[in-house]
Amino acid sequence: VPHSAEPGTGKFQINTGFSISVAGKVSEFVYDRADDFLRRLNGRTGIFIGQERIRKGMSQPATVSLKIFSKEAGELALGMNESYELRITPDLISLNAVSSYGIIRGLETLLQLLEADPEGYFFNAVTVKDKPRFPWRGLLIDPARHWLPVDVILRNIDGMAALKMNVLHLHLTEDQGFRIESKAYPKLHELGGEGDYYSQEQIKEIIRYAADRCIRVVPEFDIPGHATSWLVGYPELATVQQEYSIEREWGIMNPVLDPTKERTYEFLDTFLTEMAGLFPDAYMHIGGDENNGKHWNQSAHITKFKEENNIKDNHELQALFNKRLHKILSKNGKMMVGWDEIQHPDIPKNIVIQSWRGQKGLAAAAKAGYPVMLSNGYYIDLIQPASFHYLNDPLPDELGLTSEEKKLVLGGEATMWGEQVTAETIDSRIWPRTAAIAERLWSPADVRDIASMYERMGKISIQLEEHGLTHEKNYDMMLRRLCAGKGVDELRILADVAEPVKRYRRNALSDVNALMPYTRFVDATRPDAQKAREFNYMVNHWLKDRDGSQNDSKKNNYKALFQQLNHWYSNNNQLFNVIDQNPIIHEIRPLAENMRKMTFIGLQALEYIKNQSKAPEAWISFALGICDEARKPYGETELMIVEGIAELINACK
Ligand code: ACM
Repeated sequence: VPHSAEPGTGKFQINTGFSISVAGKVSEFVYDRADDFLRRLNGRTGIFIGQERIRKGMSQPATVSLKIFSKEAGELALGMNESYELRITPDLISLNAVSSYGIIRGLETLLQLLEADPEGYFFNAVTVKDKPRFPWRGLLIDPARHWLPVDVILRNIDGMAALKMNVLHLHLTEDQGFRIESKAYPKLHELGGEGDYYSQEQIKEIIRYAADRCIRVVPEFDIPGHATSWLVGYPELATVQQEYSIEREWGIMNPVLDPTKERTYEFLDTFLTEMAGLFPDAYMHIGGDENNGKHWNQSAHITKFKEENNIKDNHELQALFNKRLHKILSKNGKMMVGWDEIQHPDIPKNIVIQSWRGQKGLAAAAKAGYPVMLSNGYYIDLIQPASFHYLNDPLPDELGLTSEEKKLVLGGEATMWGEQVTAETIDSRIWPRTAAIAERLWSPADVRDIASMYERMGKISIQLEEHGLTHEKNYDMMLRRLCAGKGVDELRILADVAEPVKRYRRNALSDVNALMPYTRFVDATRPDAQKAREFNYMVNHWLKDRDGSQNDSKKNNYKALFQQLNHWYSNNNQLFNVIDQNPIIHEIRPLAENMRKMTFIGLQALEYIKNQSKAPEAWISFALGICDEARKPYGETELMIVEGIAELINACK
């Protein structure tokens, strides 16, 4: 949703003569994006638009459909001008911006405005004046927990650009892997990356690809904790001298760098200076989260160092470490970014805090005078619905920030932690929900209508596929594989209303680690299951007006609910057969059984309500008992229609 949109009259009809001109001071990439725009418009409409490739120095078309003008080239940096004005009239579309970055954003808006009717494709007349609410609108991708090849990153950069996001935060180092080539210390990637890492050439390609889409790349080197993979090749950096191997478990680990040795800082100086030369952005992330301090506490030389230097606790010791990092980064012209934990009175204010533990942390940072951005509430690895993330505002009134403190809130980042995703499934955890977060960070604060968001998210989700994103197509592919190609329709009916368990429950339910398969039913299912959401909504809607007259919409809603429940219920015999034939999905047999029971009592409840008769108390308690059983996850997957059916049962009382 743009900052403002003023509808005009008429529409711009698209035909084979559609043409684009580019004028003003534009960066080279504007031609590429304008060309992409034309290919995408071609692709979506099937209209063979005849204009040649759009390139610098091309001859301008005789009659112009879309006139692009940018005043300045602009420079890719925090706070760059991304505003634009898009005016569509029946004869001409004009896109004007102060900088090339605004042009890129405006082209995406224009593609979103494409509409169709039986006569063809068109843009409705409108004047859009748009600018972002926050300057930092990021997505964290974590190729350290599970390796993600370059093409995964590139297609997600395209997805980000489509949603006007502007920071790709790469979490490059972890206990489970070191994913960037270091020429200075090659054992970091050779031993720490086990063969899976980005070469410096590949990183340059990622940075260039992102920059051409107005996206900054901020690398994260997470230290002093979360650093086991560093120690495999360079154990001398560790607090506890021992042999280290790549971590296979998920969680908070004990290995930690030694902040008391000069050798640690010499190493980090060389390494971070090398990385500062590779990553052009002014910001560099040093992590700093979840250092449990165990190895520090058990080391006599650390205790001695703390006593000698009058350091009262581990937080203060880490602040001393961070101060040294701050010097190294400053020397290289970099601003330091870190998680909440790096906040400490001894640390200068020219750093950015990334708040992950809560909005209180964000407020505390802003009140202490630090620039800050929000990730708490945007943890897309936790499988929460888009509506939850959408309503999570970086600046809720409750924080009680002054207008000066509010200015320190730069925006936020969705975080796609990599424990439970692979190259095959990651897109389905990022998209389409991240579109809702992107809107939260771009659009005015009062744009908060959930129904409108979901309606638009559904459209965006399909458009995102034109970049090769796999959130839709891999779903069917994975289901197909689970049943060896036989019974995918039956399996999909269950998968459509199932979701992976939420938050960190998956770790508690099974013996997960980095080498386990992520190809099971749970991995095929997706967050915010649309079919379940629509069913629950339909139930709610139908019950709301059940005391009213027997109007048509009410009858239609009853019919739709009956058909849906009946469809689900009648699927079950075939579904059991599919499950029996494929051992990899035996674990979801109880889920299918619960689906059968739930849909049966759902149909019964529907009849009680329709006939306006009260259900016997014994039936109510039996039926609610079925719901309780159906709330249990199986194969780390849960049924998402339980609440809708429980609502039907409660309405029979
Ligand atoms: C974090 O989630 N430990 C930043």
